[in-house]
Amino acid sequence: MKTNIKPAEGKLGILIPGLGAVATTLIAGVEAVKKGISQPIGSLTQMGSIRLGKRTENRNPKVKDFVPLANLNDIVFGGWDVYTDNVYEAAMKAKVLEPGLLNAVKAELEAVVPMKAAFDTNYAKNLIATNVKTGTRYELAQAVMNDILSFKEKNNCDRIVLVWCGSTEIYYEASDIHQTLEKFEQALIDDDKRISPSMIYAYSALKLGIPFANGAPNLTVDIPAMIELAKLTETPIAGKDFKTGQTLMKTILAPGLAARSLGVRGWFSTNILGNRDGLVLDDPDNFKTKEVSKLGVLEDILKPDAHPELYGDLYHKIRIDYYPPHGDNKESWDNIDIFGWLGYKMQIKINFLCRDSILAAPIALDLALFSDLAKRANLSGIQEWLSFYLKSPQTAPGLHPENDIFKQLIKLQNTLRHLMGEDLITHLGLDYYQELVDVL
Ligand SMILES: NC(=O)c1ccc[n+]([C@@H]2O[C@H](COP(=O)([O-])OP(=O)(O)OC[C@H]3O[C@@H](n4cnc5c(N)ncnc54)[C@H](O)[C@@H]3O)[C@@H](O)[C@H]2O)c1
Repeated sequence: MKTNIKPAEGKLGILIPGLGAVATTLIAGVEAVKKGISQPIGSLTQMGSIRLGKRTENRNPKVKDFVPLANLNDIVFGGWDVYTDNVYEAAMKAKVLEPGLLNAVKAELEAVVPMKAAFDTNYAKNLIATNVKTGTRYELAQAVMNDILSFKEKNNCDRIVLVWCGSTEIYYEASDIHQTLEKFEQALIDDDKRISPSMIYAYSALKLGIPFANGAPNLTVDIPAMIELAKLTETPIAGKDFKTGQTLMKTILAPGLAARSLGVRGWFSTNILGNRDGLVLDDPDNFKTKEVSKLGVLEDILKPDAHPELYGDLYHKIRIDYYPPHGDNKESWDNIDIFGWLGYKMQIKINFLCRDSILAAPIALDLALFSDLAKRANLSGIQEWLSFYLKSPQTAPGLHPENDIFKQLIKLQNTLRHLMGEDLITHLGLDYYQELVDVL
């Protein structure tokens, strides 16, 4: 049965804490696509299609023609940053996109001026912040809510979503104050330092019933208090950490090795990058957050406990080094020691010259559009079907995340089919062959 989904009428405001490399690449890209001068490559919502019914029916609509998503022409961008640069200036500094392309959408980018950030320097020590709000954490949350509401009114938006594209915060774990909404709200009033800046934005959004997606590896909405608030205000949440570059490759390759019961003895991954994200990650406390997010992936896919003879001795090591000459063009090397029949050893080497923000921008767009769809479809709480986009997917308590990108895609597509009242696809296909037998 088809779910009752409210139509995507009116404007959708995408508000972004952190107008750095990813956010400016997203905004400039969407503006360029709107003008017809670029293509939204890498975006499943814009370019992908989905099979419906049996293979013999030949129904393969574009995702955007199948589910009611906001149209790119109806999107308005806004955001916050600790620096005052407008999106044109920030994009020029990020050096991800060519000046020619940025100049073609200059007016649109200059119009996006960051609002003052809710910030605490202890969470990203390598940033010298000049554009910040003052006050206790409670006051900051009130101020962020006011920002959201006045942006919505000023831009005549029908709906808003927030996507965190801010710097990776230092490593922290959930503590007592993160366990219930009541404790969290008391901690806001007490200006408890264990509430990170990203949590202030997330709290403000969820309190207003606005979906929140987290593109960084910090916990943010991945704590019981936020899950409780999301349920209370019937708001979708998704996190965490955009799945780009090296981890994307891992979640493509590892399921294939596991599918063929090939053993993996070691996986050494190293990266160099020279953007501001790299600078922040140069601090060991911020790197730890990223490392934890990246490390879980292989174990979840290969399941060493279930297959000790194949993956029990797996040595997984990840390094990220800040190297300014490469800018946003991250380079990664993977050395994978595998073994096959009778234990004979083999090696795989990957040298990926990727562009971090080029891979991340379409993810941020899709997360925004699907989070908005989820809200209109009355889905609330953790949106596990969006794991496809995330390095460290948030799951219901007690569940292992699914990191295999192919299973994640099936889950995403089946969720869309379910919402639209289409049959779920199992890929069994035996009926086709039975029909053939019957004909003979
Ligand atoms: N680029 C990728 O491929 C990729 C992949 C996965 C995750 N991420 C994550 O996405 C985030 C953004 O990446 P990026 O490359 O755009 O980084 P960036 O450093 O270029 O941009 C981050 C921006 O956030 C701002 N910021 C920091 N704290 C803030 C706060 N409290 N409020 C408002 N603004 C704040 C910074 O000033 C900066 O401009 C990072 O957390 C990164 O780890 C990026």
